[in-house]
Amino acid sequence: MQYPEYRPRRLRRTDNLRRLTRETRLSVDQLILPLFVLEGEKVRQEISSMPGQYQLSVDELVREAEQAAKLGIPGVLLFGIPGHKDPSGSDAVSDEGIVPRAVRALKRAVPELLCITDVCFCEYTDHGHCGWIDEAREVDNDRTLEMLGEQVLAHARAGADMVAPSGMMDGMVGYLRETLDEDGFESIPIMSYSAKYASAFYGPFRDAVGSAPRFGDRRAYQMDPANALEAMREVTLDVQEGADIVMVKPALAYLDIIRRVKDEFDLPVAAYNVSGEYSMIKAAARLGWLDEQRMMLETVLAIRRAGADIIITYWARDLARILH
Ligand code: PBG
Repeated sequence: MQYPEYRPRRLRRTDNLRRLTRETRLSVDQLILPLFVLEGEKVRQEISSMPGQYQLSVDELVREAEQAAKLGIPGVLLFGIPGHKDPSGSDAVSDEGIVPRAVRALKRAVPELLCITDVCFCEYTDHGHCGWIDEAREVDNDRTLEMLGEQVLAHARAGADMVAPSGMMDGMVGYLRETLDEDGFESIPIMSYSAKYASAFYGPFRDAVGSAPRFGDRRAYQMDPANALEAMREVTLDVQEGADIVMVKPALAYLDIIRRVKDEFDLPVAAYNVSGEYSMIKAAARLGWLDEQRMMLETVLAIRRAGADIIITYWARDLARILH
């Protein structure tokens, strides 16, 4: 009979031993909370496929942001739901559009909280695609870049602290960097959705903002879930074009991509724990099939362990409360 010489169990025996030897730690410093803003006043409409998440009018958004700041969350990521959608997504480029108004209100009320804006057109166009649709019913890359340039300037003029372009257009980061710099916004960082996959995990989000494409899908601009090397090419381009933070999205089904990006690049890596990852756990918890709090912690821990420096998550509030 041979007894083991080294016994890994020795370090697992008590809470304090486990605390001392824990390799991955979660901190509220690493979290970004996504928020949805829409027209109106005193509106706080729960999103049916995302329990615990709300469509908020600007006044309610401010209250939510104040609460996030009190919880120590460093930043929020804003998504706009315009009152009016049209083929060119005109609300997105207007200084009086929903997001610029929300940014101004947030910066007045909670100036220290980082106000990050999602830069894309799918929430604003009546066809639900992420840019300008040409005669062949495809998204016109370069025309969309010009539209994104106008949008990013509207956000910058309103006082956004960081912009997060999510449209997966080619040359997007370089174009937006140049646009910002030319208008004197050289100190606004770009957090790029660099490796963004065409994913079924965005389903609940598209309910939340009404952005499901009316025809076709996004596979011509978002990435094929089968590809990993392509993600490295996408991140390389964004780094060369001047991205300050690179993002992988979704997170859970792409932990290998997060790890590769973390190993190969020296920029901060963000991961987006998307709507479907949140909602499937919420749903199973409601059915009593699993423990939401433990699932949440394990999920976010896994994303951290894979290499994410920053996690964008609908659980940011709940996590902040637990971590305090
Ligand atoms: C595009 C955008 C999407 C998400 C963030 N930015 C949706 C899409 O590409 O269809 C999804 C976020 C989530 O699912 O939580 N503006």
